[in-house]
Formats: sequence, structure tokens, C-alpha cells
Amino acid sequence: MTSLSVGAALKLRPATLSDVAAMEVFMAPFEATGDLLPRSNYDLCRHLKEYILAETSDGILVGTGSLKVYSAQLAEIAALAVREDQQGRGVGKAIVEALLVDARAMGLSEVFGLTRKPLFFMRLGFRVAEKEQFPLKVWADCARCPRQHACDEVAVALTL
Ligand SMILES: CC(C)(COP(=O)(O)OP(=O)(O)OC[C@H]1O[C@@H](n2cnc3c(N)ncnc32)[C@H](O)[C@@H]1OP(=O)(O)O)[C@@H](O)C(=O)NCCC(=O)NCCS
Repeated sequence: MTSLSVGAALKLRPATLSDVAAMEVFMAPFEATGDLLPRSNYDLCRHLKEYILAETSDGILVGTGSLKVYSAQLAEIAALAVREDQQGRGVGKAIVEALLVDARAMGLSEVFGLTRKPLFFMRLGFRVAEKEQFPLKVWADCARCPRQHACDEVAVALTL
């Protein structure tokens, strides 16, 4: 994606390698609560092009999100997090909408997420779905998730 200003105070832009250290620090508390899956420095570098960042006009990181492509049709919205003191101001919505613009531009036909916050996604037009509809995700991430036998995440999906 190209950089995009959202209102006066918020900018969305692709992540760069110089952001990786700050992204690790930013995501750590969300990983600790289980809202995000842990990602290594290697994972972040390897898949950096999937990530977009939201930052204030003075360059403070306030949100992250990524679009993980699984097939010519399907991608996942992942790594979605907004700094706690900035939640409820439209940052999460702006990140998801930017990822949906990218998804449509790529020619994808469906995006999904696994989340403990299904109502947030439903506000953005997603529907509740069955996890079993997304076997590539289950193979890639659920199989190595410590909570795989006590999963409290709901699958949500949006047809583009
Ligand atoms: C979930 C999260 C990304 C939402 O981001 P946000 O910036 O706070 O959300 P927004 O302000 O853009 O909200 C957009 C809409 O969703 C609603 N919404 C936000 N969080 C919600 C929630 N937990 N439950 C229900 N609705 C919610 C808002 O009220 C708003 O509705 P509106 O358009 O009618 O005003 C953010 O709360 C977060 O980072 N949570 C912790 C990490 C996490 O759970 N990530 C999701 C992993 S899939």
C-alpha cells in the first residue's frame, strides 16, 4: 500500500525493516494476553510486506495489521492491534479498511479473521464463519498454538 492520511492525526503506511524492533515491543503485550499469536523477529522480517502500521503525525506507532495471503482467493487479517489508549477512535477500523483495499486490489475474493472480538469485525461487515472453512490457517497456525484445545477465538469472514 502507499501511505494514507486518515484525518489530521493518523497516517497508515507499509511497515519497513526499521520498524521491526518497535513492532515487536508494540505487539508483546497483545501476545501476552493471547489476543495476538506470538511472532518472532524472523517471522516479522520474513513477512514484513504483509504489515501496515498506523502512526500519529509525530510518528508514534498506534496500530498494526497484516494481510496474510493463503491462496488466489483467500487471505487472513492478522496482527490487528491498537494501542490501548487509542482504542475506540476508529484506528482499528481504518487499518482493516486499508487492508481490505489491498485485498480487493490483489483480486482476492474472501478475507477472514480468527478473533476474540467478533463484534468489532461484524461492525465492519464481516459474518461469523466456521473455522473448518479455513483449513490452511488451521494447518499453519492453530496446529502450533498453545491454546489449540481450548480455543476461544471465533472465525469471521467477509466476501469481497
Ligand atoms: C479490536 C481492536 C483492534 C479494535 O480497534 P479500535 O481502534 O479500538 O476499534 P475502532 O475504534 O476502529 O472501532 C470500530 C467499530 O467497532 C466497534 N468496536 C471496537 N471494538 C469493539 C469490541 N471489542 N466489541 C464490539 N465492538 C467494538 C466500535 O464501537 C466501532 O463501532 P462504530 O463504527 O459503530 O463506531 C482493538 O480494540 C484492539 O487492539 N484490541 C486488542 C487486540 C485485539 O483483540 N486484536 C484483535 C485480534 S483479531
